[in-house]
Amino acid sequence: MKKLSLDRILQSQGFGTRKYCQELIAEGAVSIAGEVVTDYRSKIAADGLQFTLFDAEWTYREHLYVALNKPANFECSRKPSHHPGVLTLLPEQFSWRDVQPVGRLDHDTTGLLLMSDDGAFIHAQSSPRRHIPKIYVATTHAPVTTELVAAMLGGVKLHDEPEPLRAVSCRKIDEHQLEIVLEQGKYHQVKRMLAAAGNHCDALQRAAIGGLTLDALALKEGEWCYLNAAQMALLSASEAA
Ligand code: URA
Repeated sequence: MKKLSLDRILQSQGFGTRKYCQELIAEGAVSIAGEVVTDYRSKIAADGLQFTLFDAEWTYREHLYVALNKPANFECSRKPSHHPGVLTLLPEQFSWRDVQPVGRLDHDTTGLLLMSDDGAFIHAQSSPRRHIPKIYVATTHAPVTTELVAAMLGGVKLHDEPEPLRAVSCRKIDEHQLEIVLEQGKYHQVKRMLAAAGNHCDALQRAAIGGLTLDALALKEGEWCYLNAAQMALLSASEAA
């Protein structure tokens, strides 16, 4: 089992520079199993370690895997320009760990957004070769017609794409709502496909990635959670539940 000094553990979890973490420990801000630890050189088994810092409980995590129910008017960009960034919805130390969104949602799109500091995971999850289905619920300006559903399934030509793009599945939910499943993640893909098919997207929510649904996570808008092993396994499920 990996043993690390307490200052390295705190630093790895995003609580600041090594020097700052040493100061926190020396001040008595950190306790483990109810005991204050003031020696930062203490070697501690990191995996599964639970510690208290300023009265808040933390569990050591080598990497962070987080699901956020993204509200509208937050940007996924690293340097947001018109709205706050999605990282402002997570604890501050996650930014120190270089947590990033896995792919992007538009500033006005709501719903399931994964965030992680694990580069390999971000790369794998974003790879078009994995064919991970993403389920969107679009609110359309004009009523949903059978022609619209047929166009989304048959493929629509976007001006900068060599081949028509098609939805893996598409079904009418009600007069103005459509469920669309995509395996690619092109820029503004749902909105541009709906526009190319003669409608307009008034609102968009991502409801699921792979077999992991927002409903199952039961997160309110702006809420986030750590993903457990079972939820992580659902992400690579090729068929959405
Ligand atoms: N398609 C879009 O048009 N916007 C998103 O945010 C996601 C998919």
